Amino acid sequence: MPEGSRTRGFCVLLRNLILAVLLYAAIFGIIEVSRGRSVRAKGKLGIPALLNKSGPANIVKQTKSKVTIKFGGSPDAITINPHANVFNRPASAVAPKDDYLGLRPHVDTEADLHLLVEECRGTYTGLEKMRNVFDCLQFLANGEDRYYLLPEKSDRASEQDPQHAEYNDADGHGNTLSKYVPVDKAQKPSKESIGTCPGPIIPYHTYWTGPATWRVEVFIKAYLHTQNLACSRLWIWLDSDKNPNAVEDMLTRDALFARFLPLVERGDIRLMPWNFPSRIPLPKNTDGTDSISYYKTPSKPNALGETKVADGITGDADGQQWLVLTPKQMTFLPVAVSDAVRFVVLHIHGGAYFDMDVLMLRDMRPLLLPKEHSFAERWAAHSHPGDYNTAIMSLTANSSLSSYLLRGGVRMGLNFHPRVIGRMAWKDGRDQEFLMLETAAFDPIWTEFNWDREGRCTVPCLRDYSAAFKGKAGAVKDEWESFDRPQLERIGAGTTVELRAQKADGDSGSSSALEAPSGRTHHRRNRHKNDDLRASSAAQGKQAPQDGFSPTSDEEAELRQAGVVADYILEEDKFPPNNRTLENFFRGAWTYHIHNQWLKHPEPSSWINVLEQAHDGFLAGRRTNPYGEKWDGPPVAPYNYWPEFV
Ligand SMILES: *[C@@H]1O[C@H](CO)[C@@H](O)[C@H](O)[C@H]1NC(C)=O
Ligand SMILES: *[C@@H]1O[C@H](CO)[C@@H](O)[C@H](O)[C@H]1NC(C)=O
Ligand SMILES: *[C@@H]1O[C@H](CO)[C@@H](O)[C@H](O)[C@H]1NC(C)=O
Repeated sequence: MPEGSRTRGFCVLLRNLILAVLLYAAIFGIIEVSRGRSVRAKGKLGIPALLNKSGPANIVKQTKSKVTIKFGGSPDAITINPHANVFNRPASAVAPKDDYLGLRPHVDTEADLHLLVEECRGTYTGLEKMRNVFDCLQFLANGEDRYYLLPEKSDRASEQDPQHAEYNDADGHGNTLSKYVPVDKAQKPSKESIGTCPGPIIPYHTYWTGPATWRVEVFIKAYLHTQNLACSRLWIWLDSDKNPNAVEDMLTRDALFARFLPLVERGDIRLMPWNFPSRIPLPKNTDGTDSISYYKTPSKPNALGETKVADGITGDADGQQWLVLTPKQMTFLPVAVSDAVRFVVLHIHGGAYFDMDVLMLRDMRPLLLPKEHSFAERWAAHSHPGDYNTAIMSLTANSSLSSYLLRGGVRMGLNFHPRVIGRMAWKDGRDQEFLMLETAAFDPIWTEFNWDREGRCTVPCLRDYSAAFKGKAGAVKDEWESFDRPQLERIGAGTTVELRAQKADGDSGSSSALEAPSGRTHHRRNRHKNDDLRASSAAQGKQAPQDGFSPTSDEEAELRQAGVVADYILEEDKFPPNNRTLENFFRGAWTYHIHNQWLKHPEPSSWINVLEQAHDGFLAGRRTNPYGEKWDGPPVAPYNYWPEFV
C-alpha cells in the first residue's frame, strides 16, 4: 500500500535522523570534553619552568618568521612571532585619557535613584524610554549635576551617628565612635593602612566557588581601580559547604589570589566562608506589610524556649525571630545557591552585591548612600515590572523589604530566581520600593543583545558578549557607529615598549634582537630579585590551577636576550593596537557585565584587554584611575599572559 509504505519510509527516515543526531552529539561531546582537557593542561605553563631547564637552547626553535617555545608542563610548543607578541606590542595606538571621569564625587554625594529610574525608563506603565540605552547612557555620563546631589551638611552621611549606622562596623571601630572622622581629617589609604572614611564604610559582597581564576582577578582589580577604598570593604563569600577549607585554601594555596594577600592584610578584602544557614534572624518589629500571617497564639515553647510564631518562623526565648529552614530544605539546597546567597548576605549585612562577572567602572558609593537604596537591575528590556536581575543588588540590612524577599524565597522552596522573586514582589505590591535600574546602568549591551534596542547603538556598539573579548583588527564591525566626538589622534608607530614588569635598570630591557639563543647570560637572573614585585609562577609551584603565566622582569629580559622578543612590526600583528580606551567604554555605566563567558580569555587589544592594561598601569603607579587618583596601596602583580595569545 502506498499509504503504509510512505509511513514506513517516513519512520525509517526519522529513525536515521535520530541516530545521526545522537551520533553527532556523541562525537561533538567527545570533542568538547577533550577540548576542555587541553584547556586545563595549558594551565600548567610557566616561563620559569622554561628557565629552569638547561637553558632556552633546547626549548626554543627558530625559523625565519617565528619562534616556537616549549614551555615546561605543556604538551605543545607555543609559537611566538618575535615581531608582534605580548612582550613588545604597544598598549595602544592612542594616548588614553585616564582621568576621564574628573574628580571623584564628594564622599557624601547621593544619587537620586528615582530620577535615574524615571529618566531611563519613562513612566512605570509606559516604559517609553526603557529601550533607548544610548540616551540613558548620555544622561548618566553628562547629567551628574541633575542626579547627583550633596545634601545639606547636617543631612550628610558623614555627619550621622555611627552608633545608629546601617552597617556593623561602619566606623571601623565596631560602631563605638560618636562621630565619623571629619571629611578634611580623613586619611587616604597607604601601603600599610586602608585609611579612614568620613562616613559609613559600606560592604560590597560577591560569591565564588573554587580557586581564584582570572575572573576573580579582574573583578577585584576593577574594584580597586574605581571604588572609594577607605569607605568600602570587599567581602568575598566562598562556598564552604562544598569545600569547608575554601577560605584557608584561598589564603594559603591559591597562586592567583596570592597577589591580593597584601590587600587582605590591609583590610580591603575579607574572605568569608559561606555556609547555608539553617536559620536566619528576622528583625523584631516586622511591620506586617510582608504578608506574613502570624499565628493568633504562638505554639507552646519547646525545651529551648522556642515558639512557632508563624509558618516557618520561630521566636526564641530572647524574643528574636528566626526564619527556619526545614531539614528537607537543608538537605536539598538549591542548585542556584548563589541566587540565594545574595539575599541572605544583604539581609544580614547590608550593602551591595555583585556577581563576579560584573566589572566596576565608576564609584558605586553615591548609589548606596541614600537612605532608601534598595535596587536591582531590569532583566534586559523585559517590560514586566517584576522581571528583575539581581547580578547587582542593594538592600538595607534587616529591613522590612529584605525580610520579605528572603521569606518569600524560602517559602517558595528556596527559589531565589530573580524573576520569580520579582514577580512575587510585584504581586504583593512591593516592587516599587525595590527600584529597578535599566540595563544602561549595569549591563549596557543586554538590550542590544536581545534585539530590543531603540534609538542608537551604544559606544562602543557591541552586539554580543563575546565582542568585548575580541582583539583582531576589524573583528568587531561598526563598533564606533554611534561615536560622534573628535577622533583620538594616533600616536606614531615605532613607540618603544618597556618591559611590562618593573623596569630593570641597566640594559636588560633592550631588545638585543635576534641574537643567538646561546647569548643568554646567567648572572642576570638574580640581579633584580629583590625589587621584583611579582611572585613568579615557579615560586607558586604546583598549586591551584592557573590559566595564565607571568614571567618576572628578568625572565622577560631573558626572552629578549634569546631573540624570542625582537623589534615590534605592526604589519605582522594579528592583534594590532587600536584606539580603544576606557574613556569610551560605555561612558556613564557603573558596571559592565561580562555575562558568563566563563571560558573566554580576552585577546590582546580587545576592550577587556584595554581595561586590564588600565588596571595594571594604575596598580603599577604608572597611570591614574578614572578619577585621576594614583594608587597608594601595596604592590599588586599584573595580569598573567594567556599562552594562546603570546
Ligand atoms: C630546577 O629543577 C630541578 C629539578 O627539576 C629542581 O631540583 C630545582 O629545585 C629547580 N630549581 C629552581 C630554581 O626551581
Ligand atoms: C541584623 O540583625 C541581626 C540579628 O539581630 C544581626 O546579627 C545583624 O548584625 C544585623 N545586621 C546589621 C547590619 O545591623
Ligand atoms: C577609532 O577609529 C575608528 C576607525 O578609524 C573611528 O571610526 C573612530 O571614530 C575612532 N575612535 C576614536 C575614539 O578615536
